[in-house]
Amino acid sequence: MIQISPFVTDCRQILEGIFVLSFRSAEIARNAAPGQFVNIRCGDGCLPLLRRPFSISRIEDDSIELLFSVVGKGTSLLSQKRPGEPLDVLGPLGMPFKIHGPYETAILVGGGLGAAPFPFLTDVLLRENKKVLTVVGARSVKQLTVRHLLNVQLATDDGSQGFRGTVIDLLKTIVPNDGSNSTKIFGCGPTKMLSALSEFARVRGMECELSLEGDMACGMGLCQGCPVERSDGKKKYSLVCVEGPTFNSKDIILR
Ligand SMILES: Cc1cc2nc3c(=O)[nH]c(=O)nc-3n(C[C@H](O)[C@H](O)[C@H](O)COP(=O)(O)OP(=O)(O)OC[C@H]3O[C@@H](n4cnc5c(N)ncnc54)[C@H](O)[C@@H]3O)c2cc1C
Ligand code: FES
Repeated sequence: MIQISPFVTDCRQILEGIFVLSFRSAEIARNAAPGQFVNIRCGDGCLPLLRRPFSISRIEDDSIELLFSVVGKGTSLLSQKRPGEPLDVLGPLGMPFKIHGPYETAILVGGGLGAAPFPFLTDVLLRENKKVLTVVGARSVKQLTVRHLLNVQLATDDGSQGFRGTVIDLLKTIVPNDGSNSTKIFGCGPTKMLSALSEFARVRGMECELSLEGDMACGMGLCQGCPVERSDGKKKYSLVCVEGPTFNSKDIILR
C-alpha cells in the first residue's frame, strides 16, 4: 500500500449523480488486483475528516478509473475535482477477488454502483480465459451504467429497462436450479442484495464471492470499525477493510 498525490486527469458526470474520475499512478496500476480499493481524502480542508473508499473500477496502462455516485459530503467534493487538481490517495487496499479456479464462466452480479469493480475484474477474467456474463440491476434506468462491461443483462425495479424486478429474479431465469460447478458468481452491491445472492448460491451449491461496501473509517485495520460476522466459528468477526472487502459467501453472515 502506498500514499500518492496524483493529479486528476478527468472527472465527469456520466449519468445523473454518477461520476467517473481518473488519475495516473504506475505504482497502483502495477500492484492492484480486481476487488481492491483506494482510500481518498475528498476535501482540501478537514471535512470530511475520514478518507472515503472506492473500488478500482478500471486500469488502462497507468490510468486508474473510479466510478462513484454522489451520496454525501465526500463524494460531492470529489465530483467537483477538475483535471490538474491534486488528489491524496492510499492504495491499493484490501483483498482482491480470487480469480483462479477450475470454473469456466464467471457471472458478475452488480446492484447499482456495485458494478464499479467489474470492468477491471472483466479484463483480468478474460486474460485468464474465463467466459464472462454480467447481470446488473438498479432502481431505474437512470442509475444503470454498463460502461466497459461484457455480455450484460439488465434488471430494473421499475421496468424502465431490461427485466422488471431484482437482479436476483433475473439471475433465476438465467442459472438453472441445480447450479453448476463450472460457474462462479462474483457479487457487489447493497448488503440486502448480497445477502439474497449468497442464499441464491448456497441453494444451488455454487461458488460465490462477494465484495462488501459497508461503512469504513480508517480503511487499514486500525479502528476495528468495519466488522462482518463470520459463519465458520473460527472467529466471530472479520474486518472488511483488511480481510475483505471480498469474501467467500460461505464465510460470512450478512444481516
Ligand atoms: C470497499 C468499498 C468500496 C467502495 N466502492 C465504491 C465505488 O466504487 N463507487 C461508489 O460510488 N461507492 C463506493 N463505495 C461507497 C463509498 O465509499 C461511499 O458512498 C462514500 O464513502 C460516501 O461518502 P460521502 O462522504 O459522500 O457520504 P457520507 O456523508 O459518508 O454518507 C452519506 C449517506 O450515504 C450512506 N453511506 C455512506 N457510505 C456508505 C456505504 N459504503 N454504503 C451504503 N451507504 C453508505 C451514509 O449512511 C449516509 O446516509 C465503496 C465502499 C467500500 C467500503
Ligand atoms: S475501517 Fe478501520 S479497521 Fe476497518
